[in-house]
Amino acid sequence: MTALRGSTIVGLGRAVPPRVVTNADLERLVDTTDEWIVTRTGIRERRVVPDGVATSDLAYEAAVEALADAGVPADALDLIIVGTATPDMIFPATACLLQDRLGARRAAAFDASAACSSWVYGCAMAHATIAAGMAETVLVVGAETLSRITNWRDRSTCVLFGDSAGAAVLRPAPVGEGFLSFVLGADGRGGPLISLPAGGSRLPASFETVERQLHYIHMNGREVFKFAVRVIPRAIREAAERAGVPLEAVDWFIPHQANIRIIDAAAERLGQPREKFFVNVQRYGNTSSASVPVALYEAWRAGYLDRGDLLILLAFGGGLTWGSCAVRWTRERATARRAE
Ligand code: ACO
Repeated sequence: MTALRGSTIVGLGRAVPPRVVTNADLERLVDTTDEWIVTRTGIRERRVVPDGVATSDLAYEAAVEALADAGVPADALDLIIVGTATPDMIFPATACLLQDRLGARRAAAFDASAACSSWVYGCAMAHATIAAGMAETVLVVGAETLSRITNWRDRSTCVLFGDSAGAAVLRPAPVGEGFLSFVLGADGRGGPLISLPAGGSRLPASFETVERQLHYIHMNGREVFKFAVRVIPRAIREAAERAGVPLEAVDWFIPHQANIRIIDAAAERLGQPREKFFVNVQRYGNTSSASVPVALYEAWRAGYLDRGDLLILLAFGGGLTWGSCAVRWTRERATARRAE
């Protein structure tokens, strides 16, 4: 069935906590060096929320900016999707907490849980809902406080992650503008490669689970790295193919910001110039579902994106999951409002 209409992003927002944790700070916590972190990951610093701040607080700040940018009042929202691996609590959904705080009383609200791919998954659901005529205005947020589930004594993970949120408002658009294609995938066999083992129904929280540090991120970095390098070129190619555009026509690739070496390897495998890949991993580290919308926000605010540009957004993460989409950008070039 051919869709009668598509969807496009009409507003963007971002929240990054002010506190910067540098590699030098981490040298004081664990046995690591700035040199190791920079050469292995490209990360120089990350943001961390203060005590008392939760994921919905970052989501709220990003959402308020996105709604103002779109010129859309909160009560016009039909649906709110929050992509997160670090919800305020198991339930109610962080999207419901956000709905209440925004006063978006007409909106349905739910969380999307696909680890770092959650925001792209959420955009696919929002796009499909709009294309089907079930909603006019949808807010999709990627928000994380990974610092809350990071073991700050484990050097193999604590250097990688950070906190932030990115938000987008989607509205209907003619087919051929805005989102052109989506590719979503999962391989559950790789679930154990990155997980937070306890606190759910398999291993409910107990003194023992806390003692065994099972409420922190556990990751096999090397295997996740191999998976990422394998899946990214495939997902990017498929998004371009489904949109009917050659890779050469892409103006910007906006990848998940996990590791600079992963992005370099993807560019090389695709035979695409590295300059076309937007990178901000050096400033924020891996912020999971917030990573792609924050990168998109910054690329746009810095004035890199212009109306008519072709973008491919790409995410991968725990699950294992991946998601990519081709986008015909529909907004005028922003005059750089925030020096990044
Ligand atoms: N400082 C110093 N040494 C370290 C550190 C550190 N912070 N961390 C690990 N090492 C050591 C290891 O102990 C190991 O030592 P050994 O050889 O004596 O055993 C050595 O460095 C090499 O370790 P590797 O794990 O092989 O290092 P690698 O080059 O693979 O880099 C990294 C590790 C950065 C984690 C990389 O594998 C990676 O980026 N993987 C992908 C991770 C990722 O993207 N995860 C998120 C996806 S899902 C989501 O976003 C939620």
